[in-house]
Amino acid sequence: MIALEKTITDEKIQLTDNEYSSWGDTVHYSNNPKVFRGCDGSYMFDSKDTPYLDLQMMYSACNFGYKNRRITEAVINQLNTLPQLTPKFLHQYKALLSEKMSKIIEKRFHEKGRMHYNVGGAQVNEDAIKIVRNYTKRQGFFAFEGGYHGRTIATTCLTSSFRYRERYGHFGDRAYFVPFPYCFRCPYGMNCETCNHFCVKQFARQFESEYKTIYDPKTGECEYKAFYAEPILGTGGYINPPEWYFKELKQILDEHGIMLVIDEVQMGMFRTGKLWAIENYDVVPDVMTFAKSITNGMNPLGGLWAKEKYIAPDVFVPGSAHSTYCSNPIGIRAAHEVMSIVEEDETMLEREIPRKSARFTEGLNYLKSKYDEVGDVGGIGFALRIELTEKDGFTPNKALCDAMQEEGLKGDLSYRGKKCGLVLNNGGFYKNIITLVPQLYITDEEIDMAIELMDQLLTRLTK
Ligand SMILES: Cc1ncc(COP(=O)(O)O)c(C=O)c1O
Repeated sequence: MIALEKTITDEKIQLTDNEYSSWGDTVHYSNNPKVFRGCDGSYMFDSKDTPYLDLQMMYSACNFGYKNRRITEAVINQLNTLPQLTPKFLHQYKALLSEKMSKIIEKRFHEKGRMHYNVGGAQVNEDAIKIVRNYTKRQGFFAFEGGYHGRTIATTCLTSSFRYRERYGHFGDRAYFVPFPYCFRCPYGMNCETCNHFCVKQFARQFESEYKTIYDPKTGECEYKAFYAEPILGTGGYINPPEWYFKELKQILDEHGIMLVIDEVQMGMFRTGKLWAIENYDVVPDVMTFAKSITNGMNPLGGLWAKEKYIAPDVFVPGSAHSTYCSNPIGIRAAHEVMSIVEEDETMLEREIPRKSARFTEGLNYLKSKYDEVGDVGGIGFALRIELTEKDGFTPNKALCDAMQEEGLKGDLSYRGKKCGLVLNNGGFYKNIITLVPQLYITDEEIDMAIELMDQLLTRLTK
């Protein structure tokens, strides 16, 4: 018999954690971190069993809904057969997952490639750094202002926030950060109707002369050999670029022999209505990383796909990367089940997500028309955003964004006469954007509920 700890109160959990856990993670951003006891589908439940509609889904790690029955059963089956295995040996689901994913990706990108695994988003992004440096023999990367690629020391060199490096410095070269095409707040002060694609042209100008600091026109060599990009900014506020952006950027990269590494850790797995967000822009990456929903948040696992020439066995040789947990059987098995669901549901998801996204967006536009403090709404698929501002519709309003999240967690909203709460997350350059990240199977009624609950919050906080 296993020994179960007696259930302790929320207050006791908070006090005990305060005393014995490090405050270095993000729990202690809040003075009073919320305790949850259960989850199912689109909901989390507190100690009083109050349901909270979740519009952040573990930062997009649970796209297939909390406690998805199929994935849970696959994990239980794996727990009962081969739960542990040193990564020196093979188990069937690792080979099967690689085959399944390579074929699915080849069908979409028309390119042969291979899969490689590690334990999470940051770690596979580090492995992608190895793949690029191994192939190009150069250190430098381009990356986007507002991009987020993880918080290990290496990935904070690709993540634009100085805050993440401030107290630790960095080991490798910091990326050359390029402004992201954030049209509502254009970094160049342009208007997207009339800008004539100014941002891509600015990037192209880096290659006009050696005095632009990164390029030698005589040899055609660029100091930066890869562009590391989220297809849509995640932590940066669910900002989707104009539809022409990546195609034009890729053309410049190809002209100068610069690889495109696409980070699908947050936007992959149908978040945007396509399996990979970059598919919305009709561009094929050279390397692509993923994590989070690949196991539906069940077990840490990340992975990457690279075109054969970068990852062939004689290029990325045995031992190039490793972790004890890199192909852990439980994570791999969960991922295999997730990819089986993807294969079965892809037609339905590609049809339903845009339809439901339009319903959601209509609700968001209603909120925009009702409240001066909703400056902008937008996004793509189920990667939606609502930008909170002062009454002028433009000045970022972080205080309102924080208050909405806190108020939603009180669990005292109501829908159809029943008490409930709302779980929201924020992002953006000014932390004033509510990022809306529902599970992929959210129902029409739950979408209407989401709008109504946000309406209640905005009324409380602005009227
Ligand atoms: C785009 C992106 N890349 C990488 C990461 C890091 O992933 P992990 O938290 O699994 O290390 C995240 C996490 O939020 C992310 O959103």
